[in-house]
Amino acid sequence: MVFMDEPRHRRFRRLSSWAYTQGAMREMRAHFRSLAERFTAEYLEALTRASAQSGSVDFVDGLACKLPLAAVGEILGLPPEDWNQILVWSKALVGEVEAGDRLPGESLGRAAYRNMIEMRHYLDELIEESRAHGASRGGLIDRMVHTPVEGRLLSNQQLNGYLFLLIGAGNDTTRNALAGGVAALLEHPEQCVLLCAEPARLPTAVEEILRWTSPVASFLRTAEADFDLAGTRIRAGDTVGLFYPAANRDPRVFVEPYRFDISRAPNPHLTFGFGAHFCLGTNLARVELAASLEALLPLLPRLALAGPATRLAQTHVMGYSTLPLRLRD
Ligand code: HEM
Repeated sequence: MVFMDEPRHRRFRRLSSWAYTQGAMREMRAHFRSLAERFTAEYLEALTRASAQSGSVDFVDGLACKLPLAAVGEILGLPPEDWNQILVWSKALVGEVEAGDRLPGESLGRAAYRNMIEMRHYLDELIEESRAHGASRGGLIDRMVHTPVEGRLLSNQQLNGYLFLLIGAGNDTTRNALAGGVAALLEHPEQCVLLCAEPARLPTAVEEILRWTSPVASFLRTAEADFDLAGTRIRAGDTVGLFYPAANRDPRVFVEPYRFDISRAPNPHLTFGFGAHFCLGTNLARVELAASLEALLPLLPRLALAGPATRLAQTHVMGYSTLPLRLRD
């Protein structure tokens, strides 16, 4: 879908966009909040156990990945017993395969590719099952399998491509926004203190985290017409690189763009892109970030960075592979 032009793109987008509207997310808010509270309590338990031996717990695996995974799983109607495996596959989409998930002697590139093939086979089976049994699970996958677009049901290949997008975009971006947001708060203690003292600042804090972390680093687009961009001539047919973190630090738009400021308003960031392909999951991402941070607020003053974080080594999705945290003494 990300590569389609109008009017086709709109017809395909409509197949899933109804599941991610503001109204749909309003109904999920309380549920996400209670999931976030449960995941935070489990993370605190792990931190408490680790702190008995002066240890740390990775925030990415321990907490940041949980709510995005559950949300994607529930909305799509993926069987909960498969979610952990889906997380492994979705991380492989952004070039991450942990050593324990690689075959002996397998390179990272090879392992990521193998994971992709495994995910494709898995989704093919779900699609076939849905075709055979009708829309029995009631999730988005069933609706997508049984709803014609342009007069025809989608092929396995089309469904697979669409589901890769919804699973990958739903997991990898929000996980990185949350991990990056918590890292930013801990690196800017005065902002962390302010947010904990005044939780009403949460909505502007979420927007600043989105601007600051810009989890989608880049996309390529093809220019449809000649255009003059601040003195640079772009010609129809040129491939143009869009760098979201750079746009979000444009000094002509943002006052002190390199300052992390949870009270920043207005905050016209471009983290979700713009135009026809504007992110389909913005409402979901915002609700998840707000629910996660709200649940985490009471714990935030007790958290500290514990050693070096590791970052994703690729140029499409930015963020953290690991972010070790510990309880303060
Ligand atoms: C912080 C989290 C997220 C960020 C930073 C993000 C960012 C983006 C960006 C930059 C684009 C491309 C926009 C453009 O080309 O103008 C995009 C597209 C998309 N995003 Fe997100 N996204 C996030 C969360 C999500 C979630 C939770 C979903 C779940 C469904 C999602 C689904 C999609 C889809 C399906 C597209 C393609 C839309 C189209 O081509 O019409 N995203 N996103």
